[in-house]
Amino acid sequence: MDFNTKLYFYSKAVEKKLKDYIEGIEEKSVVSEAMEYSLMIGGKRIRPVLALAFCDMLSGEEFDINYALPYACAIEMIHTYSLIHDDLPCMDNDDYRRGKPSCHKKFGEEYALLAGDGLLNLAFEIIFGKFGDVEAEPSMKCGAILSSASGVDGMIGGQAIDLLSENKQISLERLKKLQDLKTGAMIIAACKIGAVLGGGSESDIENARLFGEKIGLCFQVVDDILDKTSSFEKLGKPIGSDESNNKSTYVSLLGLEKAKQLADRLTCEALACIEPYGTKADFLSELARELLKREK
Ligand code: IPE
Ligand code: IPE
Ligand code: MG
Ligand code: MG
Ligand code: MG
Repeated sequence: MDFNTKLYFYSKAVEKKLKDYIEGIEEKSVVSEAMEYSLMIGGKRIRPVLALAFCDMLSGEEFDINYALPYACAIEMIHTYSLIHDDLPCMDNDDYRRGKPSCHKKFGEEYALLAGDGLLNLAFEIIFGKFGDVEAEPSMKCGAILSSASGVDGMIGGQAIDLLSENKQISLERLKKLQDLKTGAMIIAACKIGAVLGGGSESDIENARLFGEKIGLCFQVVDDILDKTSSFEKLGKPIGSDESNNKSTYVSLLGLEKAKQLADRLTCEALACIEPYGTKADFLSELARELLKREK
């Protein structure tokens, strides 16, 4: 399968499974409606795709997408919840997401808050077996990875540093910490979970972690660049949000050119982490290159 066919295969499977989980919610209300709205209106699905791709690469002939899909969907649900909360007026105060009004603009802040919480919990309901489509051992391992990555020593911790760094000049070291946690942690988790599900060895899991660290940081550097250089039409979310919130970003600290050089360097470093897998890593290498060039 070539790169685009594989990407389509993974993302289509994720879309369908996400829809199934949402349809499985019994207590239909404005909260479930808001959950569905934010989850199903788009999104590049990068994190679930990374999990599926690592699992695929390491399991080889034995790859069964249905084995990995519940975890891939759980990761996307947590990511979507983080975006719903990130857009709230008390956070970045952004009115658009994925090309549509943000969750709180459409449903009100109280329901956006609950929809975010609902997606966070649904992710762990899936991982801990509510739908009977996971096995005990990978569920324990992946649940541990995902809960830490999204917690206070992961994404939430990064979001806190992000808020605390508004209107401030912070050091590059502190900025790296901010980005590693805010965005890197969930991307690393996706890669590691894929490696675990693919039956990877300790060293495979470490390679996945390192690859995730490099592309995770690169992903946020590019996000910061696009916030400055892209357009609402391409990005589907407001541009200039970082500047208007006086955020500390690689663009605000290093300037555009150096930020771009850093993104290039991180992509090269990421590619080196998966070199040992030779052509089996073709999809992941191409994905890393695409993420560097992305316009949305
Ligand atoms: C946006 O993530 C927030 C960051 C962590 C940079 P994505 O760019 O993956 O957003 P979607 O999921 O495609 O909307
Ligand atoms: C948010 O970073 C990262 C999350 C943990 C949600 P940003 O605030 O830069 O993400 P966008 O630009 O709004 O998507
Ligand atoms: Mg933010
Ligand atoms: Mg934001
Ligand atoms: Mg941003």
